Amino acid sequence: MLDKVKELIGEVNDFKATTKEELETFRIKYVGKKGILNDLFAEFKNVANDQKKEFGQALNTFKNAAEGKINEMKALLEDAALESDSLNDLTRPAEPLKLGSRHPISIVKNQIIDVFSRIGFTVSEGPEIEDDWHNFTALNLPEYHPARDMQDTFFIEQNPDILLRTHTSSVQTRYMENNQPPIRTLSPGRVFRNEDISARAHCIFHQVEGLYIDTDVSFADLKQTLLYFTQEMFGKSKIRLRPSYFPFTEPSAEVDIYWGLETETDYKITKGTGWLEIMGCGMVDPNVLKNANIDPTKYSGYAFGMGIERIAMLLYQIPDIRMFYENDVRFLEQFKAIN
Ligand code: DAH
Repeated sequence: MLDKVKELIGEVNDFKATTKEELETFRIKYVGKKGILNDLFAEFKNVANDQKKEFGQALNTFKNAAEGKINEMKALLEDAALESDSLNDLTRPAEPLKLGSRHPISIVKNQIIDVFSRIGFTVSEGPEIEDDWHNFTALNLPEYHPARDMQDTFFIEQNPDILLRTHTSSVQTRYMENNQPPIRTLSPGRVFRNEDISARAHCIFHQVEGLYIDTDVSFADLKQTLLYFTQEMFGKSKIRLRPSYFPFTEPSAEVDIYWGLETETDYKITKGTGWLEIMGCGMVDPNVLKNANIDPTKYSGYAFGMGIERIAMLLYQIPDIRMFYENDVRFLEQFKAIN
């Protein structure tokens, strides 16, 4: 008797139903009114007293196994039915598409382009792999000029030198080769420096270069354009130009904007001065025009260059430049709302 129950338990445990009908047949056979379980319970009174306990326990195990199996199979069959129903329902809404977000460097680059395109600047690009002429020499940075030391880079070939461009100023020379004044162009792009990587510096970063050449361009035009830019880009209306040196401009200046000292962050990012350096600029050196076959007695112009990462770090309070290149989605997703 006991062996029979044990056998039945094994049978129940091994059972699998593929349809509701199969499951119903199983239910009726084992736990239905006239099913095996009830028959066994009816036998109970015939079992010898000393075996009653063991037999009773086996019966309970059998009952639990059968009922458990029925519930388990029922749930499985219902899930499967639900799945195939929803696949057949063509009116069901589609799974939402997971959209990415624009990279903060692209966001800021597009904002800068947008501001300058409103005053007639077009966008131009140049190669990232450059020759010595376009990156240095044509920009009034001859071979033994000490200012070259500030922009060490990665060399692909030597004599003649082929290198990764150190600034987008190289696009100035390329653009002037192929276009005659009036020139109003903005050149965004990736640049490279042989520098130690830290929270503030990287061997790869991005710049935007501006070049404006026409007859009678003055320093006042440059200053007014920069003021327009800082108002549109940052909502700040105070700038100052500090004398500086760049080989390709004369005179040259660094542009600072007055950020203010209202919050603790203002103190931190301006080092307590309220002023922030955002770009370099100047009047295009006559030698640069000459190198591009543009007559410096007839034309003059201004140029400027700024780092995109630096501006993005300011605008979004990003503490470490390396975060731009790690592509951690937790960082990138924070810019979803800005596009
Ligand atoms: N090329 C400079 C740099 O990478 C930035 C710069 C300064 C660009 C002055 C200019 C300029 O066009 O006029 O540091």
